[in-house]
Amino acid sequence: MKAVNIGVIGLGTVGAGTVDLLHRNQEEITRRAGREIKVTCAAVRDLSRGRHCDTAGITLTTDPNEIVSDPSIDVVVELIGGCEVAFDLVTAALAQGKHVVTANKALIATRGNEIFEQASTAGLVVAFEAAVAGGIPVIKILREGLSGNRVEKLIGILNGTCNFILSEMQEKDADYAEVLTQAQQAGYAEADPYFDVEGVDAAHKLTILASIAYGVHLNFQSVYVEGISALTRDDIIFAQEMGYRIKHLGMARRSTTGLDLRVHPCLIAEDHLLANVTGVMNAVVVEGDAVGETLYYGAGAGAQPTASAVVADLIDVVRTLTADPGNRVPHLAFQASALAKPGIIPLAEVYCAHYLRLTVQDQPGVLADITKILGGHGVSIKAIHQHGTGDEDGKVPVVIVTHVAQEAAVAAAVSGIEALPASAHPVVRIRLETLEGH
Ligand code: NDP
Ligand code: HSE
Repeated sequence: MKAVNIGVIGLGTVGAGTVDLLHRNQEEITRRAGREIKVTCAAVRDLSRGRHCDTAGITLTTDPNEIVSDPSIDVVVELIGGCEVAFDLVTAALAQGKHVVTANKALIATRGNEIFEQASTAGLVVAFEAAVAGGIPVIKILREGLSGNRVEKLIGILNGTCNFILSEMQEKDADYAEVLTQAQQAGYAEADPYFDVEGVDAAHKLTILASIAYGVHLNFQSVYVEGISALTRDDIIFAQEMGYRIKHLGMARRSTTGLDLRVHPCLIAEDHLLANVTGVMNAVVVEGDAVGETLYYGAGAGAQPTASAVVADLIDVVRTLTADPGNRVPHLAFQASALAKPGIIPLAEVYCAHYLRLTVQDQPGVLADITKILGGHGVSIKAIHQHGTGDEDGKVPVVIVTHVAQEAAVAAAVSGIEALPASAHPVVRIRLETLEGH
């Protein structure tokens, strides 16, 4: 049977990994797909750059539109990242009747509704397994393997760069900026690492997972987002002393009042499975009403793990080339006409325990003022630790762990504490999750 011709836009970390993997495992991939998958052309910005893959037999161009409009190309693989140019290229490829594979979570989370509508109307596939959790096939699991379940909750370490930074800071006393540079050098970080460390990338991924898990339209704006850039090694050490690890988590939970969608750092018990997911690894816990809790673990970023997901999508696309479009697996797992509008629970109404790190003057009455403010807002204290006896200015870190309280009450108490004359810095506030079940 005739080979399926692929045009790859972007030959960076993921693009080169994809071409390399297709080349290395060509024979087995052909046996699985039923047809040879052949990369015939690729687009890059700079033709003079060396590539981490063999480009023999691949026509290179700096104009991705040549690929999109090339009638000999059956499937376009978008691996440049970003939203604007990528959106134009993906929609142009669909307009030309080409299937698309992408690893671009920012694009799917923010423009996916439009893209899937166009693709469905044209009877085309847009596959995006690599967009979430790198090499872990979690989209396929949610969309197909668990499709008989009502998903109750989904909790994951979704950003490899954040997890790598937190792990290195904990295990090696490494400096935040230094570890971020290492993550960039290893190809884990986004082109703009702000997306990683401020939680945006994990929020893109949570948006996609929540949509597939709950059958709702993609709605990135409804995710509460916090990153790790405000955390210090002190927080990691203080948490460790109390039996916790700090992890950057994405969480989606269903309740009777709506969906709770959040991405932020969390204290979790040190013996929880997620606490022991280190380095660039990702892990996702999914609880279904029938299956109970399930856990998926694997590399969340990097050339080969991500290529693994891109190539799996390519094989799926090739297998479905002859299938009736109306009977394919829907893009967001639920039939497009059956997607619902999610009711989102406002953050202020969410209940959570908290770790609060205060920097205060070490003087009589300060702790009493702080506990009075917390008590006044109905926030109950579980543990309180003062670390040391003060620096040269008499300031000392005090860590408070609260019982579960409503976000709005904690926020009001934190404002009250920050307004105390003895309070020296903004309070560092990290939510504490029990992640019941493990
Ligand atoms: P890179 O920055 O390593 O590679 C981007 C590639 O796109 C480069 O080859 C670049 O060319 C090319 N490119 C950029 N703009 C254009 C353009 N306008 N025309 C032609 N070529 C262009 O990115 P990654 O490979 O890391 O990421 C690609 C996508 O995969 C992103 O959406 C990212 O979020 C996603 N992803 C990345 C993962 C990772 O571990 N890195 C994991 C999962 C998903 P040149 O090389 O000449 O500059
Ligand atoms: N920058 C992303 C991460 C790449 O670190 O997880 C994988 O999506």
